[in-house]
Amino acid sequence: MPALSDSFRAHLAQTSPFPIALDIVGAEGCHLHTRDGKRYLDLVAGLAVNNVGHRHPAVVAAIKAQADAYLHVIPYGEFIQEPQVRFAEKLSSVLPAGLDSVYFVNSGTEANEGALKLAKRITGRTGLVACHKSYHGSTHGSLSITGNEEKKYRNRPLLPDVRFMRFNASDDLALINDRTAAVVVEPIQGDAGVRVPDAAWMHALRARCTEAGALLIFDEVQTGFGRTGKLFAFAHFGVVPDILVLGKALGGGMPMGAFVSSQARMALLTHDPVLGHITTFGGHPLPCVAGHAALDVLLADKLAENAERMGRLFQELLVHPAIREVRGSGLMLAVDLGDAEKVQRVVMGCLARGVLGFWFLSCPTAFRIAPPLCITEDLVREACAAILAELDA
Ligand SMILES: Cc1ncc(COP(=O)(O)O)c(C=O)c1O
Repeated sequence: MPALSDSFRAHLAQTSPFPIALDIVGAEGCHLHTRDGKRYLDLVAGLAVNNVGHRHPAVVAAIKAQADAYLHVIPYGEFIQEPQVRFAEKLSSVLPAGLDSVYFVNSGTEANEGALKLAKRITGRTGLVACHKSYHGSTHGSLSITGNEEKKYRNRPLLPDVRFMRFNASDDLALINDRTAAVVVEPIQGDAGVRVPDAAWMHALRARCTEAGALLIFDEVQTGFGRTGKLFAFAHFGVVPDILVLGKALGGGMPMGAFVSSQARMALLTHDPVLGHITTFGGHPLPCVAGHAALDVLLADKLAENAERMGRLFQELLVHPAIREVRGSGLMLAVDLGDAEKVQRVVMGCLARGVLGFWFLSCPTAFRIAPPLCITEDLVREACAAILAELDA
């Protein structure tokens, strides 16, 4: 048999010429285990997925129990499947009024696609407004509203009628007008290198959308489920969107996305044409039970509050002349060194010390800290000691 690493390169489609290529044999809590017997402290959490930690016993038990009952039985929306219904009911119970109807899909980008289609149906308009440096996914619609030209230029033509405004810039809200179907915003930008907007801008954004009759879509794929210190990032600002987009941690480690709106709005997808948005695997019972169990753990163990505390500890400990800024909210942090080469060296150096950090798509001068939200004070101290030692090396 060929070596696993050779087959990885030969037969698995690659996304870059330089994958980290850790050979994973296990994971639990905040740690990953590799075939060569090493243990890594995970400051990435599968890119903001494993918010309750890897293989939480409650999540694993829910998956096993459901696997013993049934897996896929029919494309989404035909049968009553208790895992879907109960999870949608639970999500509605933790969201504000007007966000009480959930459409489950398979990923964050697919959830954005559904949200864009729904916004066009509701408003009868085609215009879209998004932000510079945003990231909303890799399919054509989501890429169209992604504010990173480097990721887009090979894929044109993309969706027409998309305009970009600067994030957190009040002057640019004038781009939202009576032709705008939806404004899509990450309430805290992730792959831009973690950018937290002013509350005043968020309120002005909400007001401008309402005034223009445009729908406000918050993409909380990365910020959702406690990551920023609140269950959802919009709660920091007291601004509620018309459509909420979810993914990543939603499935408790299983692949899942969702867009959420009011029952009346979502009902538009049922007619003219009937089956206005469909998916074979969306709302598969395994991610539903896993996500439901993870949300129960997140709430019972107060992990959003822990994210807030541990995030503050990271900020307190990461003080070094080479660090320009540690910015973010909760456990969604960017450590900005102001130098892309230094970032490369520090991330790889930390990896050699058994600490896994990661990069951003649109901010080469910073690296990402986004561990499981169950991380302890001791582990935060261990992570910071490794980062500071690497900065001194
Ligand atoms: C804000 C945001 N939206 C959408 C996506 C796309 O999600 P997925 O990779 O599940 O398609 C991401 C992924 O990083 C994201 O950060």
